[in-house]
Amino acid sequence: MDRRDKRMPEKRGHIIFISGIEPNTGLKNALSKSRAEVIAEIRNSGLKGRGGAGFPTGVKWNLAAAADSAKKYVVCNADEGEPGTFKDRVLLSDYTNDLMEGITIAGYAIGAYLGIIYLRGEYRYLKKHIEETIRKRHEEGFLGKDAGGKKGFNFDIEIRMGSGAYVCGEETALIESLEGQRGEPRNRPPFPVNTGYLGCPTIVNNVETLVTAARIMAKGADWFKTFGLDKSTGSKLYSISGDCKRPGVYEFPIGITVLNLLKEVGGEDAKAAAIGGASGRVIPAKDFAKTIAFVDAPTGGSVIVFGKDRDMLDVAENFLEFFVDESCGQCTPCREGNSNLLDAVFKLQDGECSGAYLRTIEGLAETMQLASKCGLGQSSPNAFLSIIENFKHEIFGRMPL
Ligand SMILES: Cc1cc2nc3c(=O)[nH]c(=O)nc-3n(C[C@H](O)[C@H](O)[C@H](O)COP(=O)(O)O)c2cc1C
Ligand code: SF4
Repeated sequence: MDRRDKRMPEKRGHIIFISGIEPNTGLKNALSKSRAEVIAEIRNSGLKGRGGAGFPTGVKWNLAAAADSAKKYVVCNADEGEPGTFKDRVLLSDYTNDLMEGITIAGYAIGAYLGIIYLRGEYRYLKKHIEETIRKRHEEGFLGKDAGGKKGFNFDIEIRMGSGAYVCGEETALIESLEGQRGEPRNRPPFPVNTGYLGCPTIVNNVETLVTAARIMAKGADWFKTFGLDKSTGSKLYSISGDCKRPGVYEFPIGITVLNLLKEVGGEDAKAAAIGGASGRVIPAKDFAKTIAFVDAPTGGSVIVFGKDRDMLDVAENFLEFFVDESCGQCTPCREGNSNLLDAVFKLQDGECSGAYLRTIEGLAETMQLASKCGLGQSSPNAFLSIIENFKHEIFGRMPL
């Protein structure tokens, strides 16, 4: 899809998409409880962050709530830069009030006075619509002084624009960017929950995480746990693209198998699927029985389908070109490593890569996973390594004897 394409993808699902919940029920329920009770409900739901890393949301909120500071922040990560991901765009556009609710609930839970939406540069066209929603919520009393009618809870939401750098979706690079610096990841610890935006306790949460938190506060943790698996509860949005008949944004209970997902989208004849976008693993058809969950085949939401005619080395080339461009260059394993992996793909394509060289490059990829400073360099070799591992029959035929 064109990066500036404003048409909304087809959407299908049943928890977030067709919820039948009266607007602001989650916020009203949250404000009728103590902060500790709200955090306990989110913890009890088992909700894990929907931005990719899968960190338990209730634990994150609890750490920020416990931090001692007069100023705390909620940051909504709306940078959505992973290739093949466009589910947050649907929430930002069509579920804007639900997102505001989620941000306000998070603010109440941790004791923040400000929520900041860090909006992907390419989503600038949504800015006016979100600002208008914020303005209306002020009028309705859900934002501002005594927000939602809760005495002493003063909370506002602002939008800040990103500028199109993928690495700025990494939470500490995002905070650097918010502060006006170059968007480069920080060393951790300290973690944002203690030392985040302007040195204050900050939670960074994905758009979908915050919308889901609002749903949980509306319908309860026990309801949420009726969907999904024991250790990966609830439902999840997936952005489905590539060689399938019905691409779009889908919502499924966590734990659906790759095959069942592909059947839903008309991609069951595929030879492979990238579960987790360019930074995830590429799964071959023989492994389509895997479940899409944090414990088996994890994803922040991007599923790219590859049909029978795809050349998997072209796929590796395409993903690695992206990472070479998007590496912030701060650490050597990622800055040099991605270029070396891309060179190896060119050598393989030209039939000039020996077995010994390929083994050296695989070793380099594993070193990048261990030694890179942030998730970009730690995950960028995943697609390359899984393609080499799973599509040997395509690749080895092109190697010199
Ligand atoms: C290179 C890189 C890009 C990322 N981009 C995003 C993004 O666009 N949106 C997002 O929510 N998380 C992104 N993340 C993950 C964030 O660092 C962070 O884990 C997430 O925002 C936490 O929210 P959650 O706990 O609700 O998932 C990215 C991570 C890395 C390493
Ligand atoms: S891993 Fe890559 S993106 Fe992350 S800090 Fe190092 S060079 Fe920058």
